[in-house]
Amino acid sequence: LTQVQASSDDQADRLNHQSVLYSESLDLLNIRSGLTYIDATVGAGGHLKGIVQALSQQEQEIAQSTQPAQTKSAETQSAGTPPAPRTIAGVIGIDRDSRSLDLVRNRIQETEALLVHANYTDIKEVVKQAGLSTVTGGILADLGVSSMQIDQPERGFSFQKDGPLDMRMDETQSFSAYDIVNKWDEKKLADIIYQYGEERQSRAVARNIVNARPLKTTLELAEVVSRSVRRPGKYNRHTQSIHPATRTFQALRIAVNDELGGLKTFLDEAIELLAPGARLVVITFHSLEDRMVKQNFRHHADACHCPPRQPVCNCGAKSELLIITKKPIIADEKEVLANMRSRSAKLRAGEKIG
Ligand SMILES: C[S@@+](CC[C@H](N)C(=O)[O-])C[C@H]1O[C@@H](n2cnc3c(N)ncnc32)[C@H](O)[C@@H]1O
Repeated sequence: LTQVQASSDDQADRLNHQSVLYSESLDLLNIRSGLTYIDATVGAGGHLKGIVQALSQQEQEIAQSTQPAQTKSAETQSAGTPPAPRTIAGVIGIDRDSRSLDLVRNRIQETEALLVHANYTDIKEVVKQAGLSTVTGGILADLGVSSMQIDQPERGFSFQKDGPLDMRMDETQSFSAYDIVNKWDEKKLADIIYQYGEERQSRAVARNIVNARPLKTTLELAEVVSRSVRRPGKYNRHTQSIHPATRTFQALRIAVNDELGGLKTFLDEAIELLAPGARLVVITFHSLEDRMVKQNFRHHADACHCPPRQPVCNCGAKSELLIITKKPIIADEKEVLANMRSRSAKLRAGEKIG
């Protein structure tokens, strides 16, 4: 867990990122000044910036409404002067990708948010090191990969631009897509492609990958996958159909970054950290992730964890979470048209019960 230093590495021109379900997630976080918020997946910082802006707007409104009349008129005269930056680090941003944080350093002032390079599974430690014991406002997690990561060919996430078989979100990790593609046995490979990619032709894909070894680049892999997958109709990047390598690349990315393994720990710890009235908002892009969030929310909402047939409850559990979204919120047609990535997004939110 390392705190990222300010960086002048300007990758802003590579930034082509639209935050998914932006206003829905900020509304559900119920942002109120004076409380602490955590964005556990900073990415390109879109949601984080939104939280910071909402807080500073509220603080300005409070400051204006509590100023004596004389000062108010003086301020009116200097209208147009930018507001002073916020000075309370009431916002913490976490990402396991230090490049994302370097980029966000250029968009967010040091006084506006504390940026921490960590896995969100270490959220308790992050909160402790920030000198806090609870999170009073809310926690947001917008899971998966960012378009910024996909757009950098050298990161190896893209099947459309050539790069090494990498796909590590955290570049300090040694295990990469190269290891899975070139070293895992055919059955294990087919299983993750089926389970994490929901690729029905996973066996053919795995067989052809094993036969084509060694594979070194993303385009080599995409070519092998594309000829293994039979799809009705031809892929055309201007139509809504997905590229034949989409599912396999998604599966490899999830496996390289153990995306499902850490999610349960994160959800449990995030809910534990919330103060009464604080909220957890989670955006998922995969049915396995969404199911995990749904079941986890239900578990924390249930007042009893005894086996279903047990006549009298003796587990001592109590309901900790009020589920706010009975059904997941999805992107509307306008957002899906503007941002294809939002088509599979599902947002769920809960509030800690006191
Ligand atoms: C979809 S992007 C977030 C985009 C962001 N909400 C925005 O508006 O720009 C997901 C980010 O989560 C990060 N991430 C994924 N798994 C993580 C984990 N276990 N711990 C910390 N960060 C993680 C990725 O590195 C990526 O930058």
